[in-house]
Amino acid sequence: MRKSGTTVYLYELAWILPSIAIPVGMLAALTVTAFGAGMHLPSVAGRVSPTKVAQTAPFDQPGVVQVGVGRYEVRMTSQIWSFAPNEIRVPAGSTVTFIATSKDVVHGLFIPGANVNAMLLPGQVTRVTARFEKPGEYPLLCHEYCGIAHHTMWARVIVEPRS
Ligand code: CUA
Repeated sequence: MRKSGTTVYLYELAWILPSIAIPVGMLAALTVTAFGAGMHLPSVAGRVSPTKVAQTAPFDQPGVVQVGVGRYEVRMTSQIWSFAPNEIRVPAGSTVTFIATSKDVVHGLFIPGANVNAMLLPGQVTRVTARFEKPGEYPLLCHEYCGIAHHTMWARVIVEPRS
C-alpha cells in the first residue's frame, strides 16, 4: 500500500520559499527603517486656517527659536514661492523641529542629507524633527510641484561648527 501524504516537488518549493521569504524580508525592512533609522510618516500636528496663518501663533512670527540645550524650533510658513524663514542657522549637533504650514497651495519640505521629507498642506500643521551633526549648508527644498516658479522655492539650513 502506498503511504498517504503530500509530495512537494522541487519546483513547487522554488515558488513556496520566495513567497514566504519576500514578505518576511519586507517586514524586516519596514521594522528596521521605522525603529532603527527613525523613518516614519509625519503626524498631523494640528490645524490652522490657511487664510489666517499670518495671524496665528507660532506662524505670526516665523523664525528659529532655541527651546532647550541643543534644541531648536523652526516656525516656518511656505507660500508661492518661498519659505519664511529662508535661512536657518543652528550649531552642529542640534536637534531641530520644523513646525510648518502652507499659506496657499501644497508645498513640500525636503532636506537632502537630513531625515526631513514632508508635505506642507494648507490647513494642516506639519511637524518633523531632524538632528544636524555635520557642519555645512543643507538645502531645504520644495519638492511638490506648486506652480510656475516651483523650482525657485528653496531655503537653506546652515549648520555652524561648534565653537
Ligand atoms: Cu512650493 Cu514647489
